Amino acid sequence: MAILVTGGAGYIGSHTCIELLNSGYEIIVVDNFSNSKPEALKRVSELTKKSFKSYNVDLLDQVTLEKVFFENHIESVIHFAGLKAVGESVETPLRYYHNNITGTVVLCELMQKYNVKKLVFSSSATVYGTPKYVPITEDFSLQSINPYGRTKLMIEEILRDLHLSDDNWSIALLRYFNPIGAHESGRIGEDPNGIPNNLMPYITQVAIGKRENLNIFGKDYNTHDGTGVRDYVHVVDLAKGHLKALEKIINSTGIDAFNLGTGIGYSVLDVVKIYENVTSRKIPYNFTHRRSGDIDKCYADPTKANKELGWKASKNLEDMCRDSWRWQKNNPEGYNEEIKEKI
Ligand code: NAD
Ligand code: WQD
Repeated sequence: MAILVTGGAGYIGSHTCIELLNSGYEIIVVDNFSNSKPEALKRVSELTKKSFKSYNVDLLDQVTLEKVFFENHIESVIHFAGLKAVGESVETPLRYYHNNITGTVVLCELMQKYNVKKLVFSSSATVYGTPKYVPITEDFSLQSINPYGRTKLMIEEILRDLHLSDDNWSIALLRYFNPIGAHESGRIGEDPNGIPNNLMPYITQVAIGKRENLNIFGKDYNTHDGTGVRDYVHVVDLAKGHLKALEKIINSTGIDAFNLGTGIGYSVLDVVKIYENVTSRKIPYNFTHRRSGDIDKCYADPTKANKELGWKASKNLEDMCRDSWRWQKNNPEGYNEEIKEKI
């Protein structure tokens, strides 16, 4: 019996594959490598000293995806595959709706056909839109302010309808806050294409000298120092949250949402300061205008995940900064470097 991991070559997926393999699960990865490299999977195998099957398949390709279900004995699915760049989703909404929503529908149709009804889904804190206050609990009202966020919201609704139609389904909706950090080996980490959209990969590229300085988007937010406050969570903690969710869905039925965050909010300036302290690198920055759609504060109340999944983040912001830097320092060109060396 295996766990199918869609998007397993990506940032969160690759870290989760490591935790799954280290805990003795058999895994099968499906990824179309639209935002990742096969090298990440090679390194997962190298770090765990375990081999596993991977398929270069697009979730939209139902015929080929069906072969994966036909050839393997799949017990549960962890579904990471999706496009995730907010700005890009505003520019190309149809691509986002098609990839994320149709991809999920195709996957669920096959799961239904092969009687695989256990699913862990990568949702996001983005489903809370602009929360009325913080910390955010799972029962807050849901809304979204961009196409990416709407795909997550719609998928959550689709999965609720699916469960309503057949209560044999067991589904965990994991609402991640801001995942950063990397595996402590420095072998796998986040490898964004082009100019990073998110704070931590941007900071690490400034630290390595690829970018001149960080642009801090706004200094007049209603926060302790005027810069945006977020709940940064270490990707390895997040990965472990998937194993806890998996244990729950394997042993029960139902559908439920869980916040995966630390419960602590840090501002952009807090992150810069801590990053500088733990890495001894200077991060020059400028203040620029607010980024459209950004909110002042967003952090989780993670009590429900703690009580019902037995999950709690264990790594602090220092760990996250140290591990992000180690990954960047050891892999200045991300996964491309190894490819260049071989050519
Ligand atoms: P990622 O881009 O690194 O990983 C996603 C993977 O899915 C990539 O390997 C990509 O190639 C693959 N993929 C995309 N569309 C596919 C398709 N149609 N068929 C097959 N494979 C496909 O992203 P990540 O940061 O690892 O995020 C994983 C999931 O978590 C995503 O669904 C994302 O929306 C969600 N999420 C991410 C964050 C974050 O900040 N990283 C926060 C909240 C939620
Ligand atoms: C964090 C803070 C920025 C970059 C995004 C998605 C969200 C979820 C997680 C997927 C904010 C500031 C950033 C920079 C900056 N992803 N910033 N300069 O926006 O909280 O969340 O990733 O589900 O849906 O929206 O994360 O890392 O982009 O920003 O000042 O160059 O850093 O304004 O306050 P965000 P982020």
